[in-house]
Amino acid sequence: MTVTSKPHYATDTVDRTLVDPRIRALKPYQPGKPIEEVKRELGLIGEIVKLASNENPLGPSPAALAALAEVLPKLALYPDGGCHDLRAAVAQKVGVTGDQLVFGNGSDEIIHLLGLTFLQPGDEVVIGHPTFVLYESAATLAGAVTIKIPLTRPGFAHDTEAMANAFTDRTRLVFIANPHNPTGTVVGRSAVDALLERLPSRAVLVLDEAYGEYVYDDVPDFPAALDYIRAGAPVIGLRTFSKMYGLAGLRIGYGVGSPELIRLLNQPRSPFNVNLSAQVAATAAVNDDTFVEKTRKTNSDGLRELTAAFDRLGLPFIPSFANFIMVDVQRPCRMVYDALLRQGVIVRTGDIFGLPTHLRVTIGTAAQNAVFLAALEAVLPAIAPAAG
Ligand SMILES: Cc1ncc(COP(=O)(O)O)c(C=O)c1O
Repeated sequence: MTVTSKPHYATDTVDRTLVDPRIRALKPYQPGKPIEEVKRELGLIGEIVKLASNENPLGPSPAALAALAEVLPKLALYPDGGCHDLRAAVAQKVGVTGDQLVFGNGSDEIIHLLGLTFLQPGDEVVIGHPTFVLYESAATLAGAVTIKIPLTRPGFAHDTEAMANAFTDRTRLVFIANPHNPTGTVVGRSAVDALLERLPSRAVLVLDEAYGEYVYDDVPDFPAALDYIRAGAPVIGLRTFSKMYGLAGLRIGYGVGSPELIRLLNQPRSPFNVNLSAQVAATAAVNDDTFVEKTRKTNSDGLRELTAAFDRLGLPFIPSFANFIMVDVQRPCRMVYDALLRQGVIVRTGDIFGLPTHLRVTIGTAAQNAVFLAALEAVLPAIAPAAG
């Protein structure tokens, strides 16, 4: 059939006002630039170093890769909607019961489910600012109001006292990423204790531990979500296989909490939200302790290398507990970012987080860090320092 006239259903005739204002209000997520896109746009050949999305520079867990090889013949089948084997493996590893876990298509999906489950129009969500952008999206989608509490200066940490001062009887969710994205800072136990003391009834504190595996054993008395959940506090912990386990491309994360809160979170979940490959890979990865150790060492060595270089270059940085670091390049970050791109290095600009002279750099392998540092040293002298 040849279409000659403009059909009445053409997408450009859709009346935007017919779209729910909550959807229209969403700010599109700005992901790190994909490697192939950079190559295409800049005509670059050769290796691109991507240090933009806090992925694991060592690749996926080898145990996950081995398990994945077995899964291909089974791809004609729907996955287990209840994630039976994965649930058993994670429950045993972290020391909870299976009914305390909800799995998602990335922990992104659990954040989304938190909004769908616990928020109604007019409810309030308290977050730091800047912070991981999906917390606000979950609130906006539910018609809730996001109360943004600026991070402290100069430390760029959560101001938990100001957050508690913002609590009202409409507060339903409080999000803290610990360690925090984008700043890499950590909230300590006494601050979390004090926040919980003042948490209104019917509110839930979400401790997003996407980067938790980088600190659980290193930060003394780290206030892990699990400690509070075991003590019966209204806390939900979020974890992911995207960072420490190197499975970002498969999309799998989970929430942990009391059986009652988890039952509610499961209500709006779609039946097969976690695909078969993700389940199989994560089940193997969760016990890949050798890979976890190797990743942790690569990260701590890399953090040391980068911070030593920043000191040498006279660039201030925010001390980080995660697998990335915010460095103040003291120049307009977009200019430095563009110059680094032309050198084949992708990082993240701070301006999207309201920090116009910062870059967020994922810690890479020793080789990747060296490429990044050489590129940074090469481009900085040609860019005039920012005023002020
Ligand atoms: C703080 C934080 N939470 C959650 C996520 C989402 O992780 P995923 O959906 O890959 O599990 C990220 C990803 O960067 C993050 O930084």
